[in-house]
Amino acid sequence: MKPVSNIIITIDGWSSCGKSTLARQLAKKLGYVYIDSGAMYRAITLYFLRNHVDWTSVKEVEEALNSIDIDFHYNEATEKSEIYLNGENVEYVIRDLVVAEKVSDVAAIREVREFAVAQQRKMGKKKGIVMDGRDIGTTVFPRAELKIFMTADNAVRVERRFKELFEKNPNITVEEVKNNLEMRDYIDSNREVSPLRQAKDAIVLDNTNITEEQQLKQALKWAKENLSQ
Ligand code: CDP
Repeated sequence: MKPVSNIIITIDGWSSCGKSTLARQLAKKLGYVYIDSGAMYRAITLYFLRNHVDWTSVKEVEEALNSIDIDFHYNEATEKSEIYLNGENVEYVIRDLVVAEKVSDVAAIREVREFAVAQQRKMGKKKGIVMDGRDIGTTVFPRAELKIFMTADNAVRVERRFKELFEKNPNITVEEVKNNLEMRDYIDSNREVSPLRQAKDAIVLDNTNITEEQQLKQALKWAKENLSQ
């Protein structure tokens, strides 16, 4: 389908409630660009870990951010925009639990958020974009035409993420995944800078009991209502 007009669609919500699946499918149907903002925080965290950056020091954080270049390139084979950190494809390594364990601490740092948000806004300049994350509808694009806030039962979220991670690492336990999701949701919603909140004008989509097809159909309906205005 060709875009009839370009709008900005934001999808925020809790860890592992299927935001990226919906965002990717929605962007594909609309001929839009999909940007996974969480991947940016994960890539920054990966850089900090690899380079032993002491992120309690503002000076070290600022220096490190000056050496970070983040880019997205569409991969035809996977039909996904994949993230590159200083020219290296890190799309898969950033999903590791080692990164997930630190990402919320790193994402709570003011300088890190300013760095990421500036790039995210640039990517949305031409509209025609679906971006998912935690603060996209509240901070990054507060005037977005369509804002979706996704949620799902905790047990379902843990099960989905466990399945995903277990495929790559059979040593992982349900307990580890559960603890990580709970910890991230806590830090993400209690941090000082742009905490995870539902935007006042966001529509809630609870996908506990619906299929991927059903959630896509619903989101497309909302998008079309906005496109025709
Ligand atoms: O896939 P999942 O929902 O588990 O997480 P993600 O979207 O990959 O985001 C990883 C982490 O990045 C989150 O737990 C947040 O700490 C941070 N994040 C953020 O602070 N703001 C965003 N817009 C996106 C992600």
